[in-house]
Amino acid sequence: MLITGGAGFIGANFVNYTIENHSEYEICVLDSLTYAGSKSRLDRVLHRIDFVHGDICDAEIVGPLVESADLVVNFAAESHVDNSLDDSYPFVRTNIIGTYTLLEAMRRHGGRFHHISTDEVFGDLPLETTEKFTESTPYNPSSPYSASKASSDMLVRAWARSFGVAATLSNCANNYGPFQHVEKFVPRQITNLIGGRRPKVYGTGLNVREWTHVDDHNAAVHAILSRGEIGESYLIGSGNELSNRQVVELVLDLMGFAPDAYDHVPDRPGHDLRYANDTTKIMTELEWVPRYVDFRDGLAETIHWYRANEWWWQPQKMAAEARYQARGQ
Ligand code: NAD
Ligand code: TYD
Repeated sequence: MLITGGAGFIGANFVNYTIENHSEYEICVLDSLTYAGSKSRLDRVLHRIDFVHGDICDAEIVGPLVESADLVVNFAAESHVDNSLDDSYPFVRTNIIGTYTLLEAMRRHGGRFHHISTDEVFGDLPLETTEKFTESTPYNPSSPYSASKASSDMLVRAWARSFGVAATLSNCANNYGPFQHVEKFVPRQITNLIGGRRPKVYGTGLNVREWTHVDDHNAAVHAILSRGEIGESYLIGSGNELSNRQVVELVLDLMGFAPDAYDHVPDRPGHDLRYANDTTKIMTELEWVPRYVDFRDGLAETIHWYRANEWWWQPQKMAAEARYQARGQ
């Protein structure tokens, strides 16, 4: 199995999960180790995998790796909306050209391809409804990040239909869990509090996200790899919809602070209001269910992880906060 982006947050958790739960796979990771990639996420398993430091846009590296794999799972991406608003080029390059490069190699060499995507490709839902995205919701992305992911999904569908690439696709809701980069919402607030800073909430904080534990996401990807139908897309989520304010208040409570001990900062331009996934298809057809149904428990476990693993996140923290400071956030 070739795992691209396997030194990133979800990809590295996928590598660790696969080694623990699916020892039948031999794993090769391809990752270019951007600011978001870190080999130390794989410390426990490096002796059990091949690691190639390289770029998914480089056809000369990608070709032989795809040729020697039966299965490719693509986690490699630029993944942070705020960064895509500052400089969109790396998003267009990695998310679109990178996926294209992988698909062209798949077309030449054959094998199974699974593409990891996001529910942000659908745009956003109104705050005041209980409506959810389904696999047939039209794409309507808002940010350069989600537009580049939507483009990559379209390429996967086209290469499956036109060239017979044996592809599946999944669109997951927001993830949380160990080893998430401190630029993202949940770890930013936890590590702010550990370091004596106040949590920062964009705008009103009423925007809603559906928080899914990374291990549930990765179990769902394995369900798709073993039982998914070629050519199909699957939505993944937990049902745990919370406003950003509710998440921050929960973090404050679990860490022993007053519920109002946070700051409102300027909103993100184009900020999507609400995401929510209808997961009927993956639950009924592939018999996948999330294990982390209680967000409070998953969050408490995650806070514990960040407290115990300062060695891992502390080196990224100053640079991440400097980027936020430059944006006034
Ligand atoms: P991440 O930013 O933590 O990791 C991305 C990884 O890709 C890094 O290791 C980076 O070094 C690598 N990478 C970037 N450009 C590359 C290139 N050109 N060649 C090779 N490697 C490259 O991202 P993540 O949060 O783990 O997200 C992984 C995937 O899951 C992405 O496709 C993202 O869109 C999707 N997703 C993320 C979330 C979330 O909440 N984080 C939710 C749903 C879907
Ligand atoms: P993020 O983790 O960037 O994920 P996404 O934008 O892909 O959903 O942000 C999650 C939510 O939290 C989003 O509504 C933006 C908001 N947010 C804050 O309020 N404060 C912050 O410091 C960050 C990073 C995000």
